[in-house]
Amino acid sequence: MNIKVGAIILAGSFLMAYSASSGQEAAKGSGTAATAMDKAAVGKAAWEESSCSGCHGTRGQGGSSADLPAGPNLRRPELTRQRLVEATSCGVPGTQMASWRSGAYTELPCFGKPLGEPPADVAVIGSLSQAQIESVIDYVQNDLAN
Ligand code: HEC
Repeated sequence: MNIKVGAIILAGSFLMAYSASSGQEAAKGSGTAATAMDKAAVGKAAWEESSCSGCHGTRGQGGSSADLPAGPNLRRPELTRQRLVEATSCGVPGTQMASWRSGAYTELPCFGKPLGEPPADVAVIGSLSQAQIESVIDYVQNDLAN
């Protein structure tokens, strides 16, 4: 499966998940005063809606699905928070790992490069805000690890 096909399948499954949950999101409002529990829920929702587990395994332990590309274990101790956030935001160019942060590359610098069009070898999904990215990484580091 090439990167573009993967991205289209992924975007499709995301859109389905999103339309199913957007009513709920609207009811919750934008969480400037989010409690710790809200944040954990945001992280879990972002993990599920973005199909991270499809490639990285249900507990982030590394994927082994026959249908999806196998993503690595996200709980390896050498993975710094900065690496987790940047790879989730900007993707891993040249691989099946997409860029999830809205405005990545164009509004938010990636890998220390000046703002500009994303490289051709990264699929940009752009469905997560900075707060959702932070929460999904909290979820990986705090909840999935336990
Ligand atoms: C289509 C499959 C797929 C999906 C969905 C996916 N990933 Fe990945 N991810 C990968 C692959 C493959 C890699 C490894 C890229 C490489 O070869 O370095 C990766 C790499 C990563 C890395 C870098 C890990 C490292 O070792 O440096 C992080 C962090 C990550 N993914 C987080 C996520 C999160 C969080 C989500 C959900 C928002 C997600 N991924 C969704 C396939 C996926």
